[in-house]
Amino acid sequence: MPQTRIWNVAVVGCGIGRSHIAEGYARHPDKFRVRTLCDVDEGRLAALGDEFSVPRRTRSFDELVRMDDIDIVDICTPPALHVTQTLAALAAGKQVVCEKPLAGSLAEVDRLIAAEKEAAGRVMPIFQYRFGNGLQKAKRLVDLGIAGKPYLATVETAWKRTPQ
Ligand SMILES: NC(=O)c1ccc[n+]([C@@H]2O[C@H](COP(=O)([O-])OP(=O)(O)OC[C@H]3O[C@@H](n4cnc5c(N)ncnc54)[C@H](O)[C@@H]3O)[C@@H](O)[C@H]2O)c1
Repeated sequence: MPQTRIWNVAVVGCGIGRSHIAEGYARHPDKFRVRTLCDVDEGRLAALGDEFSVPRRTRSFDELVRMDDIDIVDICTPPALHVTQTLAALAAGKQVVCEKPLAGSLAEVDRLIAAEKEAAGRVMPIFQYRFGNGLQKAKRLVDLGIAGKPYLATVETAWKRTPQ
């Protein structure tokens, strides 16, 4: 039987980062191991680290990207940090998962594309509705003429958010 690779992950940002662990990595221990957590908030770092028994914790992103045994850096920090942290992780040879918004402008996206071309790693922006079919359904209704002639389209998402 071929041995499946286990990817060592560092999660940066302990807000939505918790969901990445709980709903992603922790459910696939045969593929991923969260070895490091990073957050500037000591309390959040300790709470999430303890909850998932993450062995290494740091408040320094720079220290994290220097860790040789980390394959994937999963960036869950506030939006303004995404581009610089993604570029730094790519430069350090890591694979990068980055929460949305990936960048604040098309020019920044171009910088990321250019950096990725030179890097060993790939950038994987979070896009959890990639396989959602809402738009395809709407398009089909339009294509069939059921929706009539479109003059204006608006989209609203009504989400029921819970504290968790
Ligand atoms: N995909 C989705 O549906 C979804 C849902 C929620 C949030 N998000 C995105 O995830 C990102 C984070 O959102 P959140 O709700 O978790 O925010 P949050 O403020 O709860 O968490 C961000 C964490 O990053 C930490 N942080 C800030 N600067 C840091 C740094 N330099 N190094 C390390 N850690 C640092 C903060 O201390 C905080 O704990 C945002 O870009 C947001 O848009 C996406």
